[in-house]
Amino acid sequence: MVIRFYALRPSSAWLSLVCIAAIVHVCVANLMAVDLGEAYIKVAVARPGKGLELVPNEQSKRKTPAVVGFTTDGERLFGDAAVAYAAKAPDRVVFNARKLLGKCATDDETPFPFCRPATVSIKGVGEFNGVHLVAMLLAMARRHSVEALGLPVKDVAVTVPSSFDAVRRAAVCDAAAVAGLNCLGVVNANTAAAVKYALDGKARALGTEQNGSADKKARSKKISKKDASAHIALFYDVGASGAAATVARFHTASSGAVSRVEVLSHAWDPTLGGDAMDELLVAQLADAFDEQRRGTPEFSEDPRFARDLPRVMARLRKEARRAREILSANTERLVAVASLHQDMDLRVVLTRAELEKAAAPMLSAAPKPALRALSLAGVPPLELAAVVPFGGTARMPKIQSLVLDALGRASMNKSINGDEAAVMGTAFFAASLSSTYRVRKLDVMDRFLRSVSVEVERDTPSGSVFSSGKRRAPQNIVLFDAATAHMPAKKTISFSRVADFELSLYFDADASGEGPFPQRTLYATIKIGDVAKVLDKLDKQGGSKKTASKPTPRVALTFHLDRSGSIRVGTAESSVDETIVVEREVVVKKKTKSTESTSASPAASADASTSTSAAPETEAKEEKKEEKKTRMEKREQTVVHRHALTVNYVAAPDSIRAAQMSVEQLAAAKKVLQKLEDADRERAERSDALNALEGYILSARSRFREAEEGDDLYEVSTEEQRSSLLAVLEEAEDWMFSEEAEKTSNLVAKLKQVSTLVGGVERRAEERAGRPAAIEQMRSGVKEVLARMDVIEKLHKERNSGHEKKFADFRALAVKSLKWLDDMVAAQEELAATAEPAFTRQDITDKVEQMARAAAKLAKLELPPAPSQPPVEPKGESATTNNITADSDDKADSGGADLDPNAANADLGAKLETGTKDEL
Ligand SMILES: *[C@@H]1O[C@H](CO)[C@@H](O)[C@H](O)[C@H]1NC(C)=O
Ligand SMILES: *[C@@H]1O[C@H](CO)[C@@H](O)[C@H](O)[C@H]1NC(C)=O
Ligand SMILES: *[C@@H]1O[C@H](CO)[C@@H](O)[C@H](O)[C@H]1NC(C)=O
Repeated sequence: MVIRFYALRPSSAWLSLVCIAAIVHVCVANLMAVDLGEAYIKVAVARPGKGLELVPNEQSKRKTPAVVGFTTDGERLFGDAAVAYAAKAPDRVVFNARKLLGKCATDDETPFPFCRPATVSIKGVGEFNGVHLVAMLLAMARRHSVEALGLPVKDVAVTVPSSFDAVRRAAVCDAAAVAGLNCLGVVNANTAAAVKYALDGKARALGTEQNGSADKKARSKKISKKDASAHIALFYDVGASGAAATVARFHTASSGAVSRVEVLSHAWDPTLGGDAMDELLVAQLADAFDEQRRGTPEFSEDPRFARDLPRVMARLRKEARRAREILSANTERLVAVASLHQDMDLRVVLTRAELEKAAAPMLSAAPKPALRALSLAGVPPLELAAVVPFGGTARMPKIQSLVLDALGRASMNKSINGDEAAVMGTAFFAASLSSTYRVRKLDVMDRFLRSVSVEVERDTPSGSVFSSGKRRAPQNIVLFDAATAHMPAKKTISFSRVADFELSLYFDADASGEGPFPQRTLYATIKIGDVAKVLDKLDKQGGSKKTASKPTPRVALTFHLDRSGSIRVGTAESSVDETIVVEREVVVKKKTKSTESTSASPAASADASTSTSAAPETEAKEEKKEEKKTRMEKREQTVVHRHALTVNYVAAPDSIRAAQMSVEQLAAAKKVLQKLEDADRERAERSDALNALEGYILSARSRFREAEEGDDLYEVSTEEQRSSLLAVLEEAEDWMFSEEAEKTSNLVAKLKQVSTLVGGVERRAEERAGRPAAIEQMRSGVKEVLARMDVIEKLHKERNSGHEKKFADFRALAVKSLKWLDDMVAAQEELAATAEPAFTRQDITDKVEQMARAAAKLAKLELPPAPSQPPVEPKGESATTNNITADSDDKADSGGADLDPNAANADLGAKLETGTKDEL
């Protein structure tokens, strides 16, 4: 222990610093991005003040298998641990959590997405649907992020394939909510990769960029297809469950940096994917193993084929995935599995050529999404500046060569990290949505894949009966056209209405018939209220007294299509144009035809959605100092009354919005997750408590057993004490296997009980060991501080500061403290080593701190200014004094190691820690 004196910083300042830090942490909603792959999960965070970084898992790996397992105890396993567990208990491990999102239970006939969700049932634990399982994976991702950041994480943005439909996207956000996260949005993987490409500075403008033209174009915000400075690239992703291609255009600002990423098209193909290819390899491995076993005595004993042995298949699947990944780089892979079944090993060489042959039908689909994306975008392959592959399976050479051949290109542009680009791009997206991060300005316009239209009920004024007795067909308005729609986007429509009405939002069927959406789907039904009420109110206000014409009520609705592809009504407003008549005095020029435009056009309300209170009068401006003449004039003027209307989403049972989880369902799912989490935490706590107790018993026992004459522990204890404490430890060890030890709280209590008994002797031993150094350090420390005080005191005397008494008091305190120490040392000498010590090192520390505080106060005393006539003083001395008085804190810091106030605090901290340990 080192005792440090002098200039402790006022603790209140420290305290307030700590508080500010705590507040900042609470206020900043730290965010993470999760690339929710079919096979792997990758996580990135935005570190406040630092930037984006990928988050490794507990094993320091940069991706984690998207796998959840449940042990028979109900403990959850994630990632590699779950994959390994699958070899033991394949039916307790879920590999396809993401696939379950938006999937119907097999026995449910209701069409997707309105069916009962598919679930997996884990014996003894429960039944989980895709939302539950994805929520578990997101919670795992949050644990990793919190671990990496050291800060809580509130917000998440999730990367999904562009093929995800509205229901699956909503389910991802539901899962985030179940995990207690705020869903900032979902981002298409290919779009995120394109963002990363832009951030990495790979999208330099090509072509003949005229000086300044790019700048002007960027500013005018016009997107022309023939922008010479634009850089168009194709992003091609193959993951576990499909291939996806995206054409994106990059617009460059005058600085040369990309200012906008504009997605032109998305296309995908579900037939090509890593999982399907793994199955081909699994089949090869299973066949090889069956071949190996056929005819052996083991086979006669258990004549089941590999495919009938779930554990064997689980292990083969793991090997197949690994082999496929390796075959992208190497042409061969030796698969060797020890005692796969009945103690028989499997050894087989897989080759890339064989895999390519087996996968040929699937591989032929590889160019499809790329060609379709180009055709949707209207971009010929030659115009592509780059073809950028990413995603695990896109590494496969055969896939790349097939795509390149189809596009007539020589090579791919492997300019982004295929594994991490999407999650990093998503993290950027998330950070740019958050107000707490300052990010580079980059406009991202993704593509919305479906046309959206709205059907609006026609007016049916109450009381009026149509002669035909039939309702008129609703009015159909296209909001967003798939051929041109981007996200984010908004659109305002307006029409006249006198009564409340309903409208239905639809995702339209794909017009070309080639796309993946053959059916029109109801997205939401919305009720717009208060229309009639507003009109009534206007009537009652009597505004119509002066009304020249009948008011024309119009309703304007603004629809927002957000970055995640969800649609809502942003504002709903009614505007009533009222034409009123006003009288005013007009100056008329004597003999001109200047009254030309005094008669206002009564048709001013043609487009209510853009009107502000229009005043169509013109002033007679020519003010020639001529004879003036005025007259009263009656003029019509339009006043616009605007009122917000109410918007209510009706839970139409067949709408996509209704397929999202309700508040109650969310709460129930949260409960399911919380229960598992609590159980996992309890398990971890119990295991910690058990380890702590066992560790304490073992180490204390060996210390007591090995104590010899001369050892501190030996000297401060009697033979009898030692053997009785050893007996306590033995007994505690036996207790660990008792029923009582099942409870975590009992384990904690036991450790406390044992360490209290044993701790007395151990503390005495520690005191005995550390006492001489502590005494010596206090003595030399007091001496040193007194010497420093001499220097300061001298200066005060010279300048007559009038603080003599304070210095005298300090000196008295020092004398008293040293006397205390002498007394204590004497008292201790009288005591037997096995007795309670007369004083402890903590007592010394307390005395030292008391003096340090007093010394700090003296050092801070204000010194009167030096006499105006600069006294001729010896130079060296004045330098010394200045050094000390200028700023006691700073000088103390640099004055030497033993004056470091931080170190003094740190030392104190360390002591407190050991103190706590003793107490246990
Ligand atoms: C335009 O040309 C001038 C002179 O040649 C040069 O200094 C400037 O950097 C150019 N600006 C751009 C946007 O290229
Ligand atoms: C992409 O690769 C092609 C072919 O190797 C090359 O000509 C082109 O310049 C590359 N594009 C970029 C942006 O690096
Ligand atoms: C402090 O004192 C040292 C020597 O005692 C001298 O070298 C140094 O310049 C002094 N610093 C100031 C700020 O006076």
